[in-house]
Amino acid sequence: MSLAGRCYYALGRTRIGHNLLRAVVASLRRRGVMRAFHIPYDALRMDHTAVRELMRLWRRIHWDAGDMMPAEQLLAIYELAVTWPVDGDVVELGAWTGLTTSYLAAACRARGKGHVYAVDTFKGSHEALDHYISVERFGGDTLSAFRQRIAAAGVGGQIDVLVGLTSEMVHAYRGVAIRVLFIDADHSYEGVRRDFELWSPLVAPGGLIIFHDYVGAPGVTKFVDAEVSSNGDYESAPGHVVENVFAVTKKTDNPRAVDRTALRALEPHRVQATVRVS
Ligand SMILES: C[S@@+](CC[C@H](N)C(=O)[O-])C[C@H]1O[C@@H](n2cnc3c(N)ncnc32)[C@H](O)[C@@H]1O
Repeated sequence: MSLAGRCYYALGRTRIGHNLLRAVVASLRRRGVMRAFHIPYDALRMDHTAVRELMRLWRRIHWDAGDMMPAEQLLAIYELAVTWPVDGDVVELGAWTGLTTSYLAAACRARGKGHVYAVDTFKGSHEALDHYISVERFGGDTLSAFRQRIAAAGVGGQIDVLVGLTSEMVHAYRGVAIRVLFIDADHSYEGVRRDFELWSPLVAPGGLIIFHDYVGAPGVTKFVDAEVSSNGDYESAPGHVVENVFAVTKKTDNPRAVDRTALRALEPHRVQATVRVS
């Protein structure tokens, strides 16, 4: 970590310093200076290894008007992915231009293990999310923007991409049991239900399922509140982490905790749909 980073981290450990830094950085961000400053202030809670990875990435990835994930939510997801105490791979459903993918991959790198499988058609969605940016801006397909960003982030070695519908790519998944499943693709009730039902059997016991747009997309809110929070196979912890981020844990005594049959059944479908991005 740079000297500036160390000072920042040390000062931020005190309540006064933390509040002061948050105010200063928020003000710098408003003035558009954050790109030069490069230190995500919410990282103050994390350990040094995690923060080092985060800072390295922060310097490399430039925020783009097409990004949909505010910094606080991005960092919350990164922190969960770094600290979640279960082994396995990370699966992201809905990768867009690779912002969250980069942070999930950086989390694997900070942990020294695990791999990210990013699943997307890269054709965008037909959803009425207010902040949704048209795929036309990227020439009808975000895969090259995704590749560029992953390359800029330097995390390609941690990522495989499955290009296609999440409902089909579940058959091409070749990773191990999933430690973090991040659901951020089709935000309709039916879409999120389908993704949950198809992919959750591959989540490891104690593994985490993160739903994005819990507040922003009515279909996600309805599904999580009606079908997940009260589901006896899952702990509703950590729960509502921040703004649009809601996460549950697969119970370790869940009789369907590891669906190894499902994992084995997927074996023959390996490879074809997987694209290396490094
Ligand atoms: C909200 S964006 C993902 C944003 C990304 N996680 C981030 O924060 O940077 C949703 C993505 O899901 C993809 N998508 C939507 N429905 C899908 C489906 N059924 N199968 C595969 N990808 C889908 C879209 O192409 C789009 O890139």
